[in-house]
Amino acid sequence: MVTAYDYTAARIVDAAGIPMILVGDSMGHVALGHDSTVPVTVDDIVSASAAVVRGTTRPLIVADMPFLSYQIDAETALRNAARLIQQGGAQAVKLEGGKPVAPIVQRLAEAGLAVMGHVGLTPQHVNRLGGYRVQGKTHASANKVLEDALALQEAGAFAVVLELIPVELAKEITETLEIPTIGIGAGVYCDGQVQVFHDMLGLDPDFRPRHSGNYAELAPIIRDALMRYSDDVRDRVFPTESQSFYSDDTRVRQQTHSLE
Ligand code: KIV
Repeated sequence: MVTAYDYTAARIVDAAGIPMILVGDSMGHVALGHDSTVPVTVDDIVSASAAVVRGTTRPLIVADMPFLSYQIDAETALRNAARLIQQGGAQAVKLEGGKPVAPIVQRLAEAGLAVMGHVGLTPQHVNRLGGYRVQGKTHASANKVLEDALALQEAGAFAVVLELIPVELAKEITETLEIPTIGIGAGVYCDGQVQVFHDMLGLDPDFRPRHSGNYAELAPIIRDALMRYSDDVRDRVFPTESQSFYSDDTRVRQQTHSLE
């Protein structure tokens, strides 16, 4: 699974044969330039999800429920989830948190929605957690993450994201749960993995999370192409003849070219 927030990226992910796309609220960081996922709105995800759906035929599309779009009460959660499914075209929704959101997951699942959970580091709670830190490193906090994951399974989640937790804990959770686990910074024992498109492809030269892998370093490639384009425009070597269109009127052509 990988994130996508627009049509063109979604087409590339589809062509790569990746079976799941997350329209993540990480778009707050990488697409909208916020310093957290907190400001992302349901409207943001609906419009991104609809674009991703237009660019794909095969992957399962999971849309993130933004901060405070599901915590107020179960009916508000259901209304917002319905927008992601009906207007955004996603096939499933994801929400963050463990035991406290289990009743919400249950309400959505009973209404017929496919719900993915998300435990460990839950970025929407960054202000409460005091930063983006590995969770579940002590015995007590590891037990809490395991109990959260079990509560989500019990409530009807079809899968659960494990973010930034120790490898040993992710292994234990994966072996304990019947539903699949999808890890990000949670080691190799998860059933699947998820990464943020921009992180794994090196689109931000100043941000490369340790867990994102080194699959490409696209930022310098794109920057160099743009610099060459800019130079060529200044030097009038772009566009070339073959990149231009000419009038059928021979008098106009002669006049124009005699002015050169
Ligand atoms: O929004 C997102 O991209 C996510 C992943 C980090 C799992 O929730």
